[in-house]
Amino acid sequence: MSLYKEKAVSAEEKSGREKMITGKTKIYSVIGFPVEHSASPALHNAALEALGLDARYVALTVKPEDVADAVRGFRAMGMGGLNVTVPHKRAVIPFLDSLGEEAAKMGSVNTVVRAEDGRLVGHNTDAAGFLGALAHHGADVAGKRALVYGAGGAAPAVLRALQLGGAAGAHVFNRTREKADALADLFNCESFQVKAEDFSSPEIDTLYGNADIIINATSIGLREGDTPPVEVGKITSRHTVADIIYNPWETALLREARQKGAAVFNGYEMLVRQAAEAFTLWTGKEAPVGVMREAGLDFLRKTGKL
Ligand code: ATR
Repeated sequence: MSLYKEKAVSAEEKSGREKMITGKTKIYSVIGFPVEHSASPALHNAALEALGLDARYVALTVKPEDVADAVRGFRAMGMGGLNVTVPHKRAVIPFLDSLGEEAAKMGSVNTVVRAEDGRLVGHNTDAAGFLGALAHHGADVAGKRALVYGAGGAAPAVLRALQLGGAAGAHVFNRTREKADALADLFNCESFQVKAEDFSSPEIDTLYGNADIIINATSIGLREGDTPPVEVGKITSRHTVADIIYNPWETALLREARQKGAAVFNGYEMLVRQAAEAFTLWTGKEAPVGVMREAGLDFLRKTGKL
């Protein structure tokens, strides 16, 4: 019997070989602080695998003081692409070569693409993510009025998505009033009127009465027992209420709004859609959104968050 007898390669072995990490395997990453609990690796690795791409996606903890070195390392090591999350979305900008239109408008980067000539271009897919979430949940904002709570990292993406969706206007509430003023200044224009408001505005009943969609873009709700910044007593069944938080899956705000008959949705679809947009920017391929959505849900279930 020959030592070199041919052996048929099973489909299983073949797919195992395709999944093998080699010297050619491209590495994508998300940098943040903290980032260990990120669902992004689950979403992106599922998408890379579904399309049979020789690449992997990992989460890397980068401290605020190390952002410049991290981008230099990314450049030097020829990594495939980078996601940037809290608290680096603004801090990363000075170390990039140019910005895409959305990132420039929002002053915030969540996706870095390496151009063919090696230049690093900062993009922001969060607004597209929220716009995709609005569509997914059947919330047509064209001509509608919004109340937006928060003026931190997530609020510009929410406002930009409302603008892109053709909303008539938005009122912004924030603990630090100057940040709400700055956001209003950034977005306010004739076709999309944005105004900063005080929580104790005498117009509050009218604002709620005229609003169609109410969005929590603050971090209030992340912790159990957090009291929603939104006036839940003024929510009715004519409102759509969205929270950018998805862990917990249903914040107190969404629970109370749902009980009042409002249409509600959390931040999970925004996460999926911003990831899908980033995937397309990196690979030039249509993202398998359904695969990504399921992989993220599976991750949340396995890590006890769902
Ligand atoms: P960022 O998203 O900018 O990194 P964050 O601390 O997560 O920062 O805050 C996001 C948003 O939640 C901000 O609008 C923040 O209000 P300020 O701009 O006044 O900081 C809001 N926020 C967080 N904790 C809050 C609290 N306890 N009460 C009211 N607003 C709060």
